[in-house]
Amino acid sequence: MALVTWSQSMSVGIPAVDTQHQSLVELVNRVDEATRAGRSPVELAVVVGELVDAMVAHFRTEQALFAEHAYPGARAQRRLHDDLTSRATTLRAGLAAGRKMITPEVLLYLRDWLRSHIESEGRTFGRFVASTRRVAVA
Ligand SMILES: [Fe+2]
Repeated sequence: MALVTWSQSMSVGIPAVDTQHQSLVELVNRVDEATRAGRSPVELAVVVGELVDAMVAHFRTEQALFAEHAYPGARAQRRLHDDLTSRATTLRAGLAAGRKMITPEVLLYLRDWLRSHIESEGRTFGRFVASTRRVAVA
């Protein structure tokens, strides 16, 4: 069973963001599968590296959208993005150096982070964008 399953209820209403969120779901599931398959830390570092790259690109997209829409939650979101990027980058480096393993706690952290990022922060931003569109049309 996948660690995280995408469903339409996770849509934030912005197609480009939804597509990137789906990729993040896929990558977190790949990290989970590779860990459970007993891959070596160096092999896991490659998969985590793909997740880090996708995260960084995704956060860049979101931050551009925050700026475009003058989103009041931008600063708080930026802090969360920076924190996660830093943790994931540290994990990748630790795996690549053979100093770290992916524990069940790390997998649960990734799962919970992704769910919160999409279902809470992402949807809050989606509703904000939708509300500004309604104001613009009115
Ligand atoms: Fe996002």
